[in-house]
Amino acid sequence: MSVPERNMALELVRATESAAIAAGRWMGRGDKNGADGAAVNAMRYMLNTIHMDGVVVIGEGEKDEAPMLFNGEKLGTGDAPQVDIAVDPIDGTRLCAEGQPNAVSVVALAEKGTMYNPQHIFYMDKIATGPQAADAIDIEAPVEENIRRVAKACHKAVEDVTVVVLDRPRHEHLIRSIRNVRARIRLIRDGDVAGALMTCKAESGIDLLVGVGGSPEAVITACAIKCVGGNMQCKLWPRNEDEAALCREKGMDLNQVLTLQDLVSSDNVFFAATGVTDGEFLKGVQYQGDMIKTTSLVMRSKSGTLRYVEALHQLRKLEKISGIDYAPKS
Ligand code: FBP
Repeated sequence: MSVPERNMALELVRATESAAIAAGRWMGRGDKNGADGAAVNAMRYMLNTIHMDGVVVIGEGEKDEAPMLFNGEKLGTGDAPQVDIAVDPIDGTRLCAEGQPNAVSVVALAEKGTMYNPQHIFYMDKIATGPQAADAIDIEAPVEENIRRVAKACHKAVEDVTVVVLDRPRHEHLIRSIRNVRARIRLIRDGDVAGALMTCKAESGIDLLVGVGGSPEAVITACAIKCVGGNMQCKLWPRNEDEAALCREKGMDLNQVLTLQDLVSSDNVFFAATGVTDGEFLKGVQYQGDMIKTTSLVMRSKSGTLRYVEALHQLRKLEKISGIDYAPKS
């Protein structure tokens, strides 16, 4: 028996709440960078209050030159423990800018040196599923085969399996293959972290996520799946010959199947997510005059505890103590 240790996810959630509150003010304004910038600043501010010696291993922004918490940035007070941090102040920036559902703010944290660093590779091919079909997936098998295996593991007909896919031209062939076996498809515009996590939530009715999405999102999703159970596999997906050549130069194996353990090797992973816009996975931020309501998911892999946290924030008091501008945008 050991004494329960500090659950850092309970501290991380303050950062995702802050980022979501700041970003939510930009919902529907058509300004991706405005929303992202507000989320980044609020998240950085809150993460810097946590007693830790953290380094951002998985940052975001390079792909589209958006505001970012950059790779290698140090966060926290500088005290122990030493940790790797993966951030996505808004996964689904465009969803937030257009007032669409399922934008979330996410952070994951694990012991130093345990998160996979995708370096210059912006995309990965991904397959993810919930606990029931955890042993059924194989990224090297055709998608039709994966669907059959998931159907068997979940005791349902192939026609009842629902697959989440990012709606992108690069997935045309994949979508055709899924349709060929008559499985159901949920096309999403953005936000494959929430998409993958839906496979782990029984009530969502989603069984599988497949397709190519961001590498930072892959590592963040792996951290979350380590906490809830389920499984994920990825492969690096260079966009062109230059990226592939650089991989070979650096000794990165393009054929390697990255397992959940490769993506994050620690068994003590912390994860927090807060809804920015309303979604099936989490409710978005609600502004109620002087009060703001947020809904978050807080998890830790070691204990397996999963908490939904509904918080009421007092706008004026928050602004006074944090200096963050949470006020309505004019
Ligand atoms: P951001 O909002 O952080 O930019 O990411 C949105 C997203 O949809 C991710 O969820 C996904 O992994 C990635 O973009 C896909 O990239 P692309 O839009 O270039 O296909």
